[in-house]
Amino acid sequence: MNRCPLVAGNWKMNGLIVSLAEIAAMRTVYDVGLKARVELVVCPPATLIGLALDIATQGGLGLGGQDCHAAASGAHTGDISAEMLKDAGASYVIVGHSERRTDHGETSAIVRVKAKAALRAGLTPIICVGETRAQREAGEALSVVGRQIEESVPAEAPETIVVAYEPVWAIGTGLTPTPEDVAQMHAFARERIEAQLGGGKSESVRILYGGSVKPGNAGELMSVANVDGALVGGASLTAKDVMAIATAYR
Ligand code: PGA
Repeated sequence: MNRCPLVAGNWKMNGLIVSLAEIAAMRTVYDVGLKARVELVVCPPATLIGLALDIATQGGLGLGGQDCHAAASGAHTGDISAEMLKDAGASYVIVGHSERRTDHGETSAIVRVKAKAALRAGLTPIICVGETRAQREAGEALSVVGRQIEESVPAEAPETIVVAYEPVWAIGTGLTPTPEDVAQMHAFARERIEAQLGGGKSESVRILYGGSVKPGNAGELMSVANVDGALVGGASLTAKDVMAIATAYR
């Protein structure tokens, strides 16, 4: 089992052309030693992917989209396809983020089709799952996440896919689960991913933790068993914070 950790920054609906300076600043900390230990990917708004490509590539950073449409092209005003993200220079795409599930009514069935679209286009999907506060308090966290994995992860997916466990109540709140809860969920998630993919493939799948990852808690969260990196929201907007998180792997 040799999973290279991945730290992915999810900029959400933040970032203007001036923000490309943050990606440039990330490069100076992302030296040869750190590159050998952790893969670093920025998912800016789609408007910036093409503009960020040279800056990111020169520094060994990857780029990702935040969502994609299931179709490759067509009459879908305002949507962006996985093929378009790939064409702009992305190598990853986040699918099924809880904000998409809530704001756009995305079901796990939709997320699965988007994950398939990503794979079709040659992108690596980062498939997000996670329970709400009410579901955790009702003792349903494992069953909810288990079902989301079953319904969102395409059975025929290769082991290169990434799954991100993001408890909805931890996103943007400063709250995080205990390391014990993270360990339990990630071990469970790997079992459920194995049930989906089979053939021992789950051992290679990277399972990220996301939800209020900050420089101050990254070391503890990233050292939990079965945590193969982080999906970082707010703290990924500045080079200083996201690089402090990535250097947890140094
Ligand atoms: P956060 O967001 O780090 O700001 O909590 C994480 C995410 O939504 O991916």
